[in-house]
Amino acid sequence: MRILLTGGAGYIGSHIAVLLLGLGHEVTIYDNLSNSDRSVLGRISKIAGKTPDFFDADVNDSDVLEGVLRNQNIESVIHLAGLKAVGESVSYPLEYFKNNVSGIISLLGAMNRANVKSLIFSSSATVYGNPSYLPLDEEHPTCAVNPYGRTKLHCEEILSDIANSDSSWRISSLRYFNPVGAHDSGLLGDNPSGKPNNLAPYLMRVAAGTLDHVVIFGDDYETLDGTGVRDYIHVVDVAEGHCAALTELGDRELPFNVFNLGTGYGHSVFQMLAAFENVSTIKIPYIVGPRRPGDVASCFASTEKATEFLGWAAKKTLKDMCLSAWNFQKNRSF
Ligand code: NAD
Ligand code: WQD
Repeated sequence: MRILLTGGAGYIGSHIAVLLLGLGHEVTIYDNLSNSDRSVLGRISKIAGKTPDFFDADVNDSDVLEGVLRNQNIESVIHLAGLKAVGESVSYPLEYFKNNVSGIISLLGAMNRANVKSLIFSSSATVYGNPSYLPLDEEHPTCAVNPYGRTKLHCEEILSDIANSDSSWRISSLRYFNPVGAHDSGLLGDNPSGKPNNLAPYLMRVAAGTLDHVVIFGDDYETLDGTGVRDYIHVVDVAEGHCAALTELGDRELPFNVFNLGTGYGHSVFQMLAAFENVSTIKIPYIVGPRRPGDVASCFASTEKATEFLGWAAKKTLKDMCLSAWNFQKNRSF
């Protein structure tokens, strides 16, 4: 099958590209490189032994997208392109609505015109807001608490409405929990520019000595050790979830469905810190600061629906996540 990956040069998309190429699919990456680098294409080719086609373009350019869909004979789209930093979304909400919400409208228009109606969308556990129960299943009410989260919710609403209007669409929205880790080759991983917002890349940079210490955002939550608990999932498991979702999309009756991609287990900030210290054998300095506004105490997934319908479950351990992330960090001279 020929699959279009919007945002395929990014952290999660590059891992999906490698897996799809390995499964014998043809891959076209469509990315404006606003948060990635052209060099990732060479690294994907090095791992997969095949080169994806690449278009340096914006998802808001609907005509270019339509041309790519038609000329490349695309059968399915995985839509990862978008902005993802929560704090930045509070400062620049219009940029987030333009990239994420206008972006998906542009994409859906192009897909409709090119008659490509199979789509997997990168959503986020952030759509659940503050959990009223745990684990979070897909029936949990949604309530975004920041502009980034609202863009993901709006996208899901648009997808649901499109699927209601035309039953020939097949759309899955995958709600990722906290993807971490890297490809075993050390060639692909999370490489945010500037100071990382997320815990795992921050811990890595402190261990590597490029940042002094990590600030732990609160140790007075009602959790096992007072720090926030999250469902960290290996990025390769997330990528495999997309392969499973693509297969399921081809076989099912329902035009629209949502699935959690998580492990079902939570780990605290202190547990993450200890795990990274173990694999790196480096002491990671930290201080405890105040809670970060908008953070919740605990968040982890119910994985039952994904297991039942996608036949998929995360396989990798916390140690696998930390080892691969550290390997990528040490290898970052490419
Ligand atoms: P990333 O920033 O590494 O990758 C996104 C890619 O999209 C980048 O290569 C960027 O250049 C590209 N892009 C952004 N705007 C674009 C546009 N308008 N046109 C074309 N390309 C554009 O992010 P990621 O971590 O790989 O995340 C991929 C998707 O998964 C995003 O939609 C994100 O919101 C979602 N998601 C990520 C996480 C996470 O923790 N990483 C969690 C939940 C959901
Ligand atoms: C994890 C834990 C922090 C940094 C975010 C987005 C979410 C999704 C995944 C895209 C929390 C603590 C963090 C630090 C810390 N992304 N922490 N010091 O907030 O669960 O989710 O990324 O969709 O939408 O909100 O992930 O990695 O930022 O934080 O103590 O320097 O680590 O308080 O408990 P989060 P995170």
